[in-house]
Amino acid sequence: MREDQYVKPKLNEARRRSRTEASVLDFTIPSETLGIGQGKTYVLQTYGCQGNEADSEKIRGLLETLGFSPADSEASADLVVLNTCAIRANAENKVFGELGRIKQYKDQHPGMIIAVGGCMPQEEVVVEKILKTYHQVDIVFGTHNLHLLPEYLAGAIRGTKVIDVWSQEGSIVERVPLIRNSGSKAWVNIMFGCDEFCTYCIVPYTRGKERSRQPADILAEVTDLSARGYREVTLLGQNVNSYGLDFTGKTYRFADLLADLSAIPIERIRFTTSHPKDFSDELIEALAKGGNLMPFIHLPVQSGSDRILKAMNRKYTKEQYLELVRKIKTAIPGVSLTTDIIVGFPGETPEDFAETLDLVEKCAFEGAYTFVFSPRSGTPAATMADATPAAEKMQRLYRLNEEINQGFAAGNRRFLGQTVKVLVDGPSKTKKNVLSGYTEHNKLVNFCGPDSLCGSIVPVRITGAKTWSLDGEWQDGK
Ligand code: 5AD
Ligand code: SF4
Repeated sequence: MREDQYVKPKLNEARRRSRTEASVLDFTIPSETLGIGQGKTYVLQTYGCQGNEADSEKIRGLLETLGFSPADSEASADLVVLNTCAIRANAENKVFGELGRIKQYKDQHPGMIIAVGGCMPQEEVVVEKILKTYHQVDIVFGTHNLHLLPEYLAGAIRGTKVIDVWSQEGSIVERVPLIRNSGSKAWVNIMFGCDEFCTYCIVPYTRGKERSRQPADILAEVTDLSARGYREVTLLGQNVNSYGLDFTGKTYRFADLLADLSAIPIERIRFTTSHPKDFSDELIEALAKGGNLMPFIHLPVQSGSDRILKAMNRKYTKEQYLELVRKIKTAIPGVSLTTDIIVGFPGETPEDFAETLDLVEKCAFEGAYTFVFSPRSGTPAATMADATPAAEKMQRLYRLNEEINQGFAAGNRRFLGQTVKVLVDGPSKTKKNVLSGYTEHNKLVNFCGPDSLCGSIVPVRITGAKTWSLDGEWQDGK
């Protein structure tokens, strides 16, 4: 057992940390692990946000470097890796359910290795539960040490159970091999961790303190993607607006990074996620220049009530958020805005919720991820008095979604009759013989066209608008 390597993550320890520039480590694969996956197959399941999607591209890169190849299903796989999410209870329940389901395959195929990584193992309670109940799990690793997966796998193949979770982030590890999901759109991490400590959120504990990647490493990655024919990059961070705050000198910020990236010949640059409190005028100015910076901003507001925003530790008021939205809309005409909203935060009254609805109406969001508050053990909000019945919270969610869907539909209708540029992802998930892709404003468009269009940006005239998607006609030759 390597369980002695397991450092119990202490949630409140994370609060006593200061911003420091992260050291950078160059990844090398241990030579003795090369080939350990030869002739073996794997399944990788990814839960949660784009950060996890990006981590999974590294996990896949590592596995295939070791010689593993993709399996058709869990039933026949030699290795199953679950890259998990801890943001809400239902995300965690799915993973525990999945572990139960996979056990039957391991019973039939005893050599199978099951690995659980990502955000859930960063919680002490989760590791304890796995050790106590889920004996089928062979490897547990966290968010800070996925680059050590080759060693953990070598251990598991020898029959050693490996539990290795780091309570503190280490260096930024560059040049981990990765296999991207798409040949035209790429995730690019620009920073890791979060220093915000919104009172409901577990991310600062599971992802560690904020660390920015060096500008030169980001620019080199995007330049390389451009040279390899990628059309779009999405810059990833929990709060991209605080990029560079950990650098000594603090003189190079997100707006500077965007300005430098926009000079690279790649058609589309997006980013997620922005914290409203750090959305600077310089950033608005940089975005207003347009070019390859897309007119789409995801700007989580969480609530429209000043009282709740304060209890959430969001550090802005409803009015400040509205003012920011006004500035953005003035500087970037036609910009599409989306958001995240939590209903049923502890102590949220009908009046607080009415403020949220009012804000939604005023901002005319064109989409939102909406959630019912889910208490996360160890976060301040988990112990706040919460008298609102669950049914009432669900009603608020339905009411909010009605409003959001109207905004979604209106955001789609405004493109009727226009010819827009669509980056073609591939065949539509829902319709046969139809291609789908996204516009510059991040609207999903379905249209008929040959498969050869996949991965390119093509003109499409919008002929129909539904709530969640647009229909169009490919403007062949235009
Ligand atoms: N309960 C419900 N929603 C949450 N989010 C984060 N933590 C919680 C929680 N405990 C939502 C926020 C965030 C999005 C990624 O998930 O809206 O912006
Ligand atoms: Fe969580 Fe707030 Fe950080 Fe977003 S900014 S990851 S909501 S703590």
